[in-house]
Amino acid sequence: MKITIDSSLCSGHARCAAAAPEVFRLDDDGYALPYDGEVPPELQQAARDGELACPERAITVEQ
Ligand code: F3S
Repeated sequence: MKITIDSSLCSGHARCAAAAPEVFRLDDDGYALPYDGEVPPELQQAARDGELACPERAITVEQ
């Protein structure tokens, strides 16, 4: 599973990090940072939770 964050859509709502802080981190301005590499199995549900939490649909989770 991979996570793509469209920085042109991210508006800094921070709901991804609130829903799944173990997956999503924010930069100093409150925008989501890229997630590098594969999401381990134990974090995949959290990744989906963060995807659904973003009101801008800036997060895409793909198998
Ligand atoms: Fe950005 Fe959406 Fe998270 S707007 S900070 S990716 S909730």
